[in-house]
Amino acid sequence: MAMGKLKIGIIGMGGIANYHIWGIENSPDAELYAICDVNEKALAERGETLGIPPERRYSRHEDILADSEVDAVMIGTPNMNHFAVALDAIRFGKPFALEKPIALDTKEALVLREELAGKPVPHIVCFSYRYRGAVRYARELIESGKLGEIRHVYSQYLQGWAISEEVPLYWRFSKELSGSGALGDLGSHILDLHRFLVGETTSVVGHGDTIVRERDKLDGSGKGEVDVDDFCHVLGRMENGISSSMQISRFAYGRGNYQRIEVYGSKGSLVYNLEAEDTLEANFEDEEGDFRFLDVPESYKSDQMQAFFDLLKGKDDGLNATIEDGYINQRTIDAIIESFSEGRWVSAQ
Ligand SMILES: NC(=O)c1ccc[n+]([C@@H]2O[C@H](COP(=O)([O-])OP(=O)(O)OC[C@H]3O[C@@H](n4cnc5c(N)ncnc54)[C@H](O)[C@@H]3O)[C@@H](O)[C@H]2O)c1
Repeated sequence: MAMGKLKIGIIGMGGIANYHIWGIENSPDAELYAICDVNEKALAERGETLGIPPERRYSRHEDILADSEVDAVMIGTPNMNHFAVALDAIRFGKPFALEKPIALDTKEALVLREELAGKPVPHIVCFSYRYRGAVRYARELIESGKLGEIRHVYSQYLQGWAISEEVPLYWRFSKELSGSGALGDLGSHILDLHRFLVGETTSVVGHGDTIVRERDKLDGSGKGEVDVDDFCHVLGRMENGISSSMQISRFAYGRGNYQRIEVYGSKGSLVYNLEAEDTLEANFEDEEGDFRFLDVPESYKSDQMQAFFDLLKGKDDGLNATIEDGYINQRTIDAIIESFSEGRWVSAQ
C-alpha cells in the first residue's frame, strides 16, 4: 500500500457519499482519488465539483476496482448491488468499506462471508453508530459490570420523511431493490447496536406494515407498489435472558434521525440518545440519587472513516463491524421478515 495518503475511490455518489467525502477530507491520512456512479450526469457533476479529472471518473464499478492506484473503496450504492460490488471488491483484493445492510438477504450475505473466508481483504461495514462516543462509553460501562446483569434493551429509531404521499417510489420502497423497508434501513443499525452493547439476539417476533401502499414511479409512468415495511415493532429474545424491543418507523412526524436506546440491568440503567450524544443518562445502584447525565469522555469519541483508514494502515481497535457482523445482522433481518408474515417467534440463529 502507498506510503503517502491513501487514495480512496467512492462507488455510489448519492446521499451517503457526502458523508464519505467529508470523512476523507477531514482525515490527514486519505485523499479522494477516483469516483464511480452509473448515473453519468451525477458522475460528471460530482467530478467537476470535487475536482476529479475525467479519467478518474468511472461508470462501471469493475473499472474503479481494477485501477491499481486506488488503495481502497467506499461502497455507497443502493442495497440491491451491495452484493455484486462487494463480491467484486473481494475478488479484486481491494480493501472496502461497505454500507449497510450488506446485502438483500441472508443468501447473498453468506456468499460474501464465504468468499472472504477464502480470500481475506481488509474491510469494514458501515454500522456508523458504533463510532458514537456515547455508544462506546455505554459499551464499556456495561462490560465493566456497572449495570450488573442486563435484563432489558429498549430501542427506538424514528424518522418522518416518508409521511408525505408526494415522496416518490425511491429504491428504499422496493423489496427487489432494498430487501426490506424501515427494518433494513434503520432497524439494521439498532440490531447491530444491540449486539455491540449487550449480545446476540436468538429469536424475534415482529409486526411490520406499509402505510402508503402506492407512490409515483420515478420515470413518470404512473403509480407503483410499495412492498416493504414503512414501520416495524420487534421483540427479541437475547442470550443470557435479556429481552429487547425496537420501534422503527419512517412515519414518526417531526422526527429527523431520532435514535434512543435504554439499557436496564440489575444494578443500573443507561440511556443513549443520539440527539444528546455527548452525554448518557444513568442511574447506578452504587451512587446516590435518581437519573443523572454523565459526560462522555473525549477518549471514547471516534470516527468511522478514520477508523477505516487506521485499519488500512494496520491499526485495528477490534470495534469495527465486519462482513461477519453484517451477515449476522442480515440473518436477524430475514428472521424478522419471516415473523411479519408468520406471526410467530422465529429463530435468528
Ligand atoms: N451508514 C449510514 O448511516 C447510512 C446512511 C444513509 C445511507 N446509507 C446506505 O448508503 C447506501 C446508499 O444510500 P443513499 O441514500 O446514498 O442512496 P442514493 O440513492 O442517494 O445514492 C446511491 C447512488 O449510487 C448510484 N449507483 C447505483 N447503482 C450503482 C452501481 N452499480 N455502481 C455505481 N453507482 C451506482 C446511484 O446512481 C446513486 O447516485 C444505502 O445502502 C444506504 O442504506 C447508510
